Amino acid sequence: MTAGAPTASGLAVVVGAGGALGAALLAQLRRDGSYARVLGLGRTGELRIDYADEASIAAAAQAVASLRDESGMELRLLVVATGFLHGPQGQPERSWRHLDAGYLQQVFLVNTFGPALLIKHFFPLLPRQGRCVAAFVSAKVGSIGDNALGGWYGYRASKAALNQLVKTAAIELTRNNPESMCVALHPGTVDTPLSQPFAKTGLTVRPPREAAADLLGVLAGLAPADSGALLDYRGQTLPY
Ligand SMILES: NC(=O)c1ccc[n+]([C@@H]2O[C@H](COP(=O)([O-])OP(=O)(O)OC[C@H]3O[C@@H](n4cnc5c(N)ncnc54)[C@H](OP(=O)(O)O)[C@@H]3O)[C@@H](O)[C@H]2O)c1
Repeated sequence: MTAGAPTASGLAVVVGAGGALGAALLAQLRRDGSYARVLGLGRTGELRIDYADEASIAAAAQAVASLRDESGMELRLLVVATGFLHGPQGQPERSWRHLDAGYLQQVFLVNTFGPALLIKHFFPLLPRQGRCVAAFVSAKVGSIGDNALGGWYGYRASKAALNQLVKTAAIELTRNNPESMCVALHPGTVDTPLSQPFAKTGLTVRPPREAAADLLGVLAGLAPADSGALLDYRGQTLPY
């Protein structure tokens, strides 16, 4: 089954299209042909979104709304594949000794605040009737129930907060459209710049293309009762 089926028309939007997983999701959706139009949004390109600049999010949403109105195509799929784990702002913490305000601000900006602002500006564009899906790539390490190892305070906390945003928005979205679905996704360990320094030997690391195909398969199989869940790439529900 293809993502978004049985609605094989309408618009699909991938946010974070410049990232490894985002690019693979965009390519797979375009290959699928399940949507009449598939748009990729990111920090570069025509429809620019930078979480450090809310006006860029509002402007991108406005552009998608105009395209929707001009074309008569509804926004049927929104996939958010942005994320931050390490960079110039810092590395994931091994101990509470490493907690750092600058790193925490960055990890929450990208993993939590940006997606929250996407909900604010893009969810009003979702149709009030018929199937539609909003999916946010999260991470299993954001699961509080599954946390057995500790460490990675900021990344874990920012993804746990993202999961709470997804759950909360799912409830409001269902009131607008009972056929809508809003979920958080765990892609597994994927070979990308985000995971590369941390991919341990013995861990199954999959190519982005495979992870993207799995995630779109999960989205295609969603039912409204799944809305608000954290699901892995096999479609298994993970504890929050
Ligand atoms: N890779 C894994 O093993 C793994 C495991 C579990 C969960 N995940 C999750 O999977 C998702 C995709 O990550 P990835 O592995 O594909 O990593 P990636 O290649 O590093 O992609 C990260 C994405 O986040 C975007 N981004 C970063 N800062 C941003 C900002 N300020 N504003 C807007 N966008 C910003 C990047 O945009 P640019 O292209 O402009 O830099 C890029 O599209 C993330 O949510 C990650 O947490 C990954």
